[in-house]
Amino acid sequence: MIIAIDGPAGAGKSTVARRVARELGLLFLDTGALYRAVTWSALERGIALDDALAMGALTRSLALSFDQAGRVLVDGVAGEPHIRSPKVTANVSQVAAHPAVRAALLPLQRRFAHPHGLVAEGRDMGTVVFPHAELKVFLVASVEERARRRALEVGEPEAQGRIQSEIERRDHLDATREDAPLCKAEDAVELDTDGLSQDEVVERLLHLARAARNGGALRHEASS
Ligand code: DC
Repeated sequence: MIIAIDGPAGAGKSTVARRVARELGLLFLDTGALYRAVTWSALERGIALDDALAMGALTRSLALSFDQAGRVLVDGVAGEPHIRSPKVTANVSQVAAHPAVRAALLPLQRRFAHPHGLVAEGRDMGTVVFPHAELKVFLVASVEERARRRALEVGEPEAQGRIQSEIERRDHLDATREDAPLCKAEDAVELDTDGLSQDEVVERLLHLARAARNGGALRHEASS
């Protein structure tokens, strides 16, 4: 079974997707980590982030994989915590806008779905990478709430305003790029997490996943 979870920055996709994957015995795929890994590698090597050709070549040359805990490895080296640095976060949307970077990451992401399926989270899971996913969810929350949660998470409640500006900037770049922009797939379920606890979000996702699985089984039965 493939579950595609998309949504804007800071909507809590990673944490809930990871928990849902564990509950259902599926692989978890954090696709943002791949774009972050490419950005980190480019910064390390001094490659100009606006050089589309060089960025495409770099992406094709990297061996990107995940360890048992679902953390990205770049040429076998742990990407954490470097890929979460403020510098990478500030630049990743520019890198993710290059069609050559996206094209190089597309087959890699699809390969993870074999043979058992997965829970994949990002910006274009339901629209581009897994258009035939059995369940598509678009997770949203107000930008104030997303900034508040992120500020608490990093232990800097006073930084909420700055974090909100960063989130708004990144969402704008991700939603307005030409190639695979952040948007809700037509057949995705929109889930607004404002006012919901993390446990409640996970519960709802599990409910949707079970319904999708049963619905799929029923459709299969009806057609055979
Ligand atoms: O989910 P995240 O914040 O780790 O993602 C980092 C960036 O990567 C995000 O701002 C846009 C990009 N991204 C993307 O373009 N497509 C995806 N499927 C996942 C992330």
